[in-house]
Amino acid sequence: MNLTPEQQALLDGAKGPAMAKVVKTLVMYGECFGATRMVPVTSRNGHIVTSFGLSMLGPVYDLMDELIEQGALSGQAFSADPRPLDPAVPANPLQRLVFKVMYSKQDDYEAQLRKMGLLRSDSFTCTCYQPEVGNRPAPGDVLSWAESSAVVFANSVLGARCNRNSGIIELFGSIAGFVPEFGLLTDGGRQATRVIEVSCERKPEAQVLGSAIGMKVMEEVPYIRGLDHWLGHELTAEVEDYLKDMGAASASNGAVGLYHVEGLTPEAREKGRDLIAPDARVYRIDDAELERVRASYPVMWKKPGARPKLAFIGCPHLSATQLERWAGDICEGLAAAGHRRVQVPTVLTAAPAVAKAFRKTDAYARFATTGAVVSSICPLMYTNNPLCGGMPIVTNSNKLRTYSTARYCTDREVLECVTTGALAWKGGDR
Ligand code: F3S
Repeated sequence: MNLTPEQQALLDGAKGPAMAKVVKTLVMYGECFGATRMVPVTSRNGHIVTSFGLSMLGPVYDLMDELIEQGALSGQAFSADPRPLDPAVPANPLQRLVFKVMYSKQDDYEAQLRKMGLLRSDSFTCTCYQPEVGNRPAPGDVLSWAESSAVVFANSVLGARCNRNSGIIELFGSIAGFVPEFGLLTDGGRQATRVIEVSCERKPEAQVLGSAIGMKVMEEVPYIRGLDHWLGHELTAEVEDYLKDMGAASASNGAVGLYHVEGLTPEAREKGRDLIAPDARVYRIDDAELERVRASYPVMWKKPGARPKLAFIGCPHLSATQLERWAGDICEGLAAAGHRRVQVPTVLTAAPAVAKAFRKTDAYARFATTGAVVSSICPLMYTNNPLCGGMPIVTNSNKLRTYSTARYCTDREVLECVTTGALAWKGGDR
């Protein structure tokens, strides 16, 4: 690793032993991936993935104390992933007790985050790039983030540059102000090594398309052709929502950190097929392939035929447009089904700033009478314990499906489920 004199001085301890350890870690990390130099982090804000005060993360809290005591603070204010707790989300007394024990360090950890440089007291969301949140990178910005759904969105839709870092490493990049240059920070690393030919007869479900792409290409960079037929050539709010959900599925069902959509995403518009590596392999996706992928999802519920006990909508968190649309659809769906209240406890999740704005609207006043809840929780943190493991949860998130026992359903199926109580999709038998 070739360090500048300033970087070398930090490594040698010019700003204390904690900062020296931070830089040493970044050097070792970069050398693992063949980096030969550091590049400045240029985004205004950072984002950290570790947002939860799990009682078992003692070494993280010790590390944070050491950094804070020695003044090795984040040079940029940062947002954080969603909180793991929200009393508004339905849970039984035993679950609440488990949450309390599991996340007993939440308040202490949030105090550490504030000292370290948390953007605002409510900056807890994985969709920090939503306009209401105030952490949207500019094209070409170099980031030090780790949240996979945010990294893939920033790289692909916003044209920023960020590797799929791990938790804490990303904080170290924000503290030092530089990151090792490799992978998705380089032009070569942003070349597509896979071509995805989409030839569906109907608009693909974003979450299933992302899943199919992720499971096929894993950490490679896909260049997606044929999707502009369905999405057009402009990054409207609706198109961004689609790409957010598709990207999160590709990043969790595989390990995609960047995709290009022909004629639509910034680098694909600028460079076109020059982005495709000469030996790129082709993967064709049609309606039958999406059906096959979806039918391959295992049903992880203890009782596959159980009535759902909870529906999580929004993982990653919903945008303002999505939140408003879901609320309206639920109200209308209930009216059509002759019900006043949701038939399955339902949680819509969105960033605190998005949820706050929505709660001031007339649409919310109507929605609140349905019994459904708007929360800024991370659904995965809710499900990530033995008690919730066996719970029949439905979700429109392929990320949540991948990391928990929740069952994936399309938006239409989730809507039908929460408004009528019926679950049409039984699993891989259709
Ligand atoms: Fe966001 Fe938590 Fe889902 S971080 S993407 S809501 S798993």
